[in-house]
Formats: sequence, structure tokens, C-alpha cells
Amino acid sequence: MTLHNVLIIDDEPDIRELLEITLGRMQLHTRAVGTVSEAKRLLENTHFDLCLTDMRLPDGDGIDLVDHMQIHHPNLPVAVITAYGSVESAVQALKSGAFDFVSKPVDLHNLRRLVSTALKLSQSPPEDAGTQAQQADPHGLLGHTPAMQRLNETILKLARSQAPVYILGESGSGKERVAREIHRRGPRQGHPFVPVNCGAIPAELMESEFFGHIKGSFTGATADKQGLFQAAQGGTLLLDEVAELPLHMQVKLLRAIQERAIKPIGAAHEIPLDVRILSASHKDLAVEVQAGRFRQDLFYRLNVIELRVPALRERQEDIPLLATHILNRLADHWDTPAKHLTSAAIQALMAHDYPGNVRELENLLERAATLTESNTIQVADLRLPHTTDTEHPDPSSSPQRPLTQHLEQQERQTITLALAQAGGNPTLAARHLGLTARQLRHRLGRLGLKHH
Ligand SMILES: Nc1ncnc2c1ncn2[C@@H]1O[C@H](COP(=O)(O)OP(=O)(O)OP(=O)(O)O)[C@@H](O)[C@H]1O
Ligand SMILES: [Mg+2]
Repeated sequence: MTLHNVLIIDDEPDIRELLEITLGRMQLHTRAVGTVSEAKRLLENTHFDLCLTDMRLPDGDGIDLVDHMQIHHPNLPVAVITAYGSVESAVQALKSGAFDFVSKPVDLHNLRRLVSTALKLSQSPPEDAGTQAQQADPHGLLGHTPAMQRLNETILKLARSQAPVYILGESGSGKERVAREIHRRGPRQGHPFVPVNCGAIPAELMESEFFGHIKGSFTGATADKQGLFQAAQGGTLLLDEVAELPLHMQVKLLRAIQERAIKPIGAAHEIPLDVRILSASHKDLAVEVQAGRFRQDLFYRLNVIELRVPALRERQEDIPLLATHILNRLADHWDTPAKHLTSAAIQALMAHDYPGNVRELENLLERAATLTESNTIQVADLRLPHTTDTEHPDPSSSPQRPLTQHLEQQERQTITLALAQAGGNPTLAARHLGLTARQLRHRLGRLGLKHH
């Protein structure tokens, strides 16, 4: 077994000693220094698995060190030690890429938890999961448009971090799926992922649902009940539709997140929490804060990192891939051969607006597949508003836009369609399009349609 090596940077000898003793008891090897420059020098020629740094150092600040490591040692998890109550600097460190923080005076329980999470991180780097693997993976986020590639890359980065992430996106766009991916690709995988729809719990039951209660603590509490926070212990809690939380719960939630502990109703003691908090909403929380419906302090805690999930209409080129995937899944489910879409049907799907995003696409295809007797789905089977079943859409119906933009859109659709029909095989697609593989690659690049 290789001994893990931890770098500690703090200018107070007492803290260095405390950290070295604590980590030593965890069978870890440590090196401790008191300045940024010593740390940088050591990092150059020694391998470390984790770095713990103080925020204020004699020759610089912890954030600079976090920034330095993001560039020079991007795979080394770094956590910061912050002064008591300085939330601002903790948040800043998380935004810069620190994966977590502990505040002074250092709570040894929290410290041990943080260290073991970090070491799990360095053991199983999520880098092994390339986009290709994700596309084959039924749980992953499908899509090869630049917007989805960026989202998938960000998810991998955020999975390593323990920072709270606020996921913003239209209804049905995949917010919950994003949250599951963040959980599944990080060190908490193997522990529970608990999604909670904040809009669906009656206000009077909320406290008990979140924090649990002790038998007899109120009328109707006939047995001890574990709350959602405890159910997520070691894992991730997704506060879905977080904008719907009533104000009195917002206060209690803020406290739980801040203290990293909860107290079930009627309990004598607090229970320490080790739960990563993700939140999601189709409403813009910043607007809710402005309107006085959401507490600014809670917003600030939840929204350390904001992740926007693009609407389906912003990534039309992903539609053929998603549609094929959905039809295959339905076929698996029903144990029947998969139904195919005609070219015109795919084009009609790509032209639709999708206020309900991927969920709408799923519903629409399920309805069409159920109602169609044959193995092919035609435009009419889709029952989209304003579509006619023709391979050549009426040019007068296309919206007014510059010719080049119009042509580019047509080219995108044609290429995406050809790729989908060729089962993603670029050589085959190029042949169908009357292009060489090289020409197709060139066009894909120009249109920003990277293909794997
Ligand atoms: N990129 C994607 N690849 C594959 N399936 C997806 C993708 N995005 C969303 N889905 C599917 O679309 C459906 C809706 O996704 P999800 O429930 O995550 O959306 P949501 O944004 O949380 O929706 P709501 O606002 O209604 O809560 C799910 O069945 C999900 O699996
Ligand atoms: Mg949802």
C-alpha cells in the first residue's frame, strides 16, 4: 500500500502541529511549511495527494496558491483553512477551484471527513470517463453540441469539488440528471443521492421532513423519523425547485448548511452532517432574491457555483441522437423492435420549439411510438403543431433571416441527419452526403459540431 502524502501550509506552528498529528494518526504522510514560496518549491519536486492551505500567509494568500495549483497541478485536490466566520473567503476559494474548506478553530471530525473525501478523489480520478463513454452510458448526459460538451466537462470538474452548485434551467431540460451526474462522478458515489422536491412538501411538515423528529415530539409523531438530510448522509442532497421553499424554512436550511449539523424536532443534540448540497430551479433565484421571496444569505450559500443547463432549442443538433436513444430505450422497455423516424420526421422534430425540453421530446416520442402500428414514425404520427408530411418543407414558411445563416442551418440539419442515419459513423455519413471523410470533418469543425 502506498502512503498518501499531504502538504500542509500554515504560518502558525501550533496549527501545523495539530494537523500533522491528526493526519499522522490517519496513517498519512505529511510535510508542513509556513509560506507560499516554500509550498510552490516543494510542489515542484514532490508528489502530493492532497494539499491543505491556510488563507492568510506571510508572503501571499491561499487563493493565489489555489489558482497556482489549478494551472500547475490541476489533479491535486486542495482545501483551504479559513478564519472563523469568513464565509466570503471560503466561497472565493471554492469558486477558484478548492474542493472544500475547514474553518478555524479546526474541528477534527470535519477535518478527517474532508481528508478521506479528498483521498478518494485522488484514487479514482474521474478523467477515465471521456465523452465517448458517457454517450454509451444510459445515465450520462447525451449530446455532442458544443453547449453539451461544455456542460459535460464542467460536470466532471464540479464532481471533484464539494462546493454547493445551483443548477438553473428550463423545465424538463435535465437539471436533475445533471445533479445525478455530479454525484455519480464524484467521491460520494456509492452513498445516497437524495432528490427533494421543495415545492411538493406541505409547509407544516417541512421541518420534520428535512430534519426528522423524535417520537412524541408533537401530536402524530408516533415513532422516530429520520429526515432527508440524514438520509443523504455521506452523499448528496438535491434541493429541487428550491425557489419554492417558504421563508421560515430558508432560515432553518441556512443554519443547517452553515453549521454542517441538524437537530431533529424534539432531539437533545445536534447531528453532524456530511452532505453535499446541490439545488435546482427553473426560476432565476437572483430574480427571486430581488423580489424579496428568497433570502439573499441562503442564495449566496447555495449559489457558490451556478450551472446553466441549455434548453433543447439551443442545441437542436442533439435532437436526432436523443430521439434515437429514447426510441431504443422504449423498445427495450416494451421488448419490441425499435421504431425508426423518417428523415422528414427527424427534420420536423428538429424544427420544433420544445417549451418542455427533453421531457417533452420523450413524451412526444412515446405517444408517437404507441400510436404507430408500423415500424416507422412519420411526421403526422408526431402530432406536432404546424407540420405537414413533406420531404421538402415550404421555403416560404421559413422565418426571415440572412441567407448565409439560413444555409448554415440547412447544412447543419442535413449533416446531423446524415450522421444519425449512419448510426454516428462519419465515413458512412460522408458517403451519403457525397463528401470525402476529410471534407465532412472540415464542415463539422466549421459548424462547431465536433463528432466522436
Ligand atoms: N442530456 C440528456 N440526455 C439524455 N436524457 C436527458 C438529457 N437531459 C434530460 N434528459 C431526460 O429528460 C427528462 C427530464 O430531465 P430532468 O428530470 O433531469 O429535467 P428537469 O430539468 O429536472 O425537469 P423539471 O424542471 O421538470 O424538474 C428525464 O427523463 C431525463 O432523463
Ligand atoms: Mg427536475
